[in-house]
Amino acid sequence: MAIRNIREYGDEVLTKPCKEVTEMTPRIRELIEDMLETMYEANGVGLAAPQVGVLKRIVVIDTTGEDPYILINPRIVESSGEQTGNEGCLSLPGKTGVVTRPNYVKAVALDSQMKPFELEGTELLARAICHELDHLDGHMYVEKVEGELQNVTYDEEGE
Ligand code: NI
Repeated sequence: MAIRNIREYGDEVLTKPCKEVTEMTPRIRELIEDMLETMYEANGVGLAAPQVGVLKRIVVIDTTGEDPYILINPRIVESSGEQTGNEGCLSLPGKTGVVTRPNYVKAVALDSQMKPFELEGTELLARAICHELDHLDGHMYVEKVEGELQNVTYDEEGE
């Protein structure tokens, strides 16, 4: 495993749509392991493959620090409610901004064995799912920020 360089806002790779994963390969397995290590090292709760420069539809999310979700080719199939709160991104270190997201989402994805599964989340997990899936279509939370970006305080985490 290795920690990969996190691409920052302004890097063109973060604006491009990602391609679906069609089969699990040793290279993709290594990418996923590296994404997890990179996310944990940066104290993030989520990371999308384009953030490490790879245009594939893969995200990792861990909002509890205990149990990571690996989502390949994820899609949101249901959402409801609304939450408005601070959001950050490992590709925009030191910044945070207010974004409104659904309070509940259900996503379908493939796991690391390429088996389909469903992931339901509320609050932070719902927010992280929306945030990471946006990355796969070349979007960042700054496009949705209400008001100005703020400088982050020490206890906030990035996605
Ligand atoms: Ni992000």
